[in-house]
Amino acid sequence: MLTTVIIGIMVFIQFLLLCLFVIILYLLARGIFGVPFVRSNKPFSRAMMELAEVKPGETVVDYGSGDGAIVIVAAKEFGAKGIGFEYLRILVAYAKALAMFAGVSKQVEFRRENFLSGATLPKADVVSSYLFPEVNAKLEPLLIRDYPSGTRVVSRTFLFPTLPLKASKKVGKETVYLYQIP
Ligand SMILES: C[S@@+](CC[C@H](N)C(=O)[O-])C[C@H]1O[C@@H](n2cnc3c(N)ncnc32)[C@H](O)[C@@H]1O
Repeated sequence: MLTTVIIGIMVFIQFLLLCLFVIILYLLARGIFGVPFVRSNKPFSRAMMELAEVKPGETVVDYGSGDGAIVIVAAKEFGAKGIGFEYLRILVAYAKALAMFAGVSKQVEFRRENFLSGATLPKADVVSSYLFPEVNAKLEPLLIRDYPSGTRVVSRTFLFPTLPLKASKKVGKETVYLYQIP
């Protein structure tokens, strides 16, 4: 009887490890072919929202929202509404759970969507991104197409090719950039 229980537990643990392995493999593969998931911790998210001077009631849209770190800080600490675009289903689910634990579920929304797929972008006062320069370069014409002049765009570390730069701020060894839609 005891042996059966021990074998059962071992099989279950092996099953969990296999699931974990498959998830890691999947994330790595997406990392190789696209922008890998690296989260902006609270000091980074906060610095980005401060640089963009996010005010209560404004809408922040994070393109490539990962686990929702930026959107959640925008909602919880700045009183903003937030929308995150993320194509990895698992990260969207995780972001929703984190938003719930942070008590900001009603202020935020996470869309499992490729923001480069051509759909009209949602209204925003502030756009945020932490994406590779080549992805910023693809996103830039969509931002210029859909957002009115003056919309703030804040980017961690990576530059946008032609948007006019308004300000920048050092955060640790990295820089956060603030642009405006012309
Ligand atoms: C470096 S992470 C940044 C996550 C989050 N913005 C943060 O700063 O904590 C970039 C995220 O963008 C997502 N991503 C990259 N390209 C995307 C696309 N075209 N559509 C939706 N999500 C995308 C990746 O899956 C990844 O989770």
